[in-house]
Amino acid sequence: MVNNKIFITSDIPEIGINLLKNKGYKIQIHNSTNSITKEKLVKSAKDSAALITLLSDKIDKEIIDKLPNLKIIANYAAGFNNIDIKYAKEKGIIVTNTPDVLTDSTADLTVSLILACARRILEGVELVNKNKFKGWQPKLLLGFELRDKIVGIIGMGRIGFAVAYRLKSFGCKIIYYSKSINRIAEKSINAKRVSLNELMKKSDIISLHIPLNEKTKNLINKEKLELMKKEAILINTARGEVLDENHLIQMLKVNRIFAAGFDVYHNEPKINQELLKLNNVVLLPHIGSATIEARNRMSILVAKNVIAVLSGKKPLTQVN
Ligand code: DGY
Repeated sequence: MVNNKIFITSDIPEIGINLLKNKGYKIQIHNSTNSITKEKLVKSAKDSAALITLLSDKIDKEIIDKLPNLKIIANYAAGFNNIDIKYAKEKGIIVTNTPDVLTDSTADLTVSLILACARRILEGVELVNKNKFKGWQPKLLLGFELRDKIVGIIGMGRIGFAVAYRLKSFGCKIIYYSKSINRIAEKSINAKRVSLNELMKKSDIISLHIPLNEKTKNLINKEKLELMKKEAILINTARGEVLDENHLIQMLKVNRIFAAGFDVYHNEPKINQELLKLNNVVLLPHIGSATIEARNRMSILVAKNVIAVLSGKKPLTQVN
């Protein structure tokens, strides 16, 4: 008999689940806001042919070995650093992700973080909320304009380009560091490819858009961070581990840079408590793709990938 069991580690938007239900698959969902434990995942997904995971579910060798019927792991995220994709491949398991569908949402959020940092939005909100606004003052909460600022995009892929494209309309100049040339970015927004050191030195705003893997782990290390201008801001909506978070905190503490905006952290969901003491940071709870549109499209894409693989076809967005 064909195995038609699907286990989902969290309650994703219904639109994709309904697609799966309409095809007659048997679906089990871990319906809780708490991340599923390793033990529960293994127990619940034991007989499943498909596993739908979140970026917070670490799918390592041990888990893969305990799920012998798996044909696909469909990650409900663009990033897939939470899955041992090489080992999955060795075991004949397809891994898919959800690129493209969340590009605009993540780019919008990145620009929000840039503006929040440049215009000191949180400090302003806090001042008003604490009833400390005493009237208009010439030197109250001075930030900076985006026009003519140099934006350094690290990773000129889909999201990096979408961020750069938006910032071009603010009058920014775009430089980028990427493993390959992005001709569309060079032609359409006059982006210039530079070395990582040059980008770190020249940029007024640095935005990270690289995936987390062996090559990018701690890429933005202490030495690179120290190249930044004193007036610069740094935004990370990629993955916490691509930069030396501890060193960045030390720099922020002594106002070595202007500000930083974070949507992602080392050891999520734990947040380094030192970050909470700073007033030159904007801290968000990993909500880059958190729009109704993106999350629905992610749900549909995950479902389509599962349906394709379970019916012997090629998935839309395989990563291994
Ligand atoms: C992803 O999908 O990888 C993003 O980090 C979600 O916000």
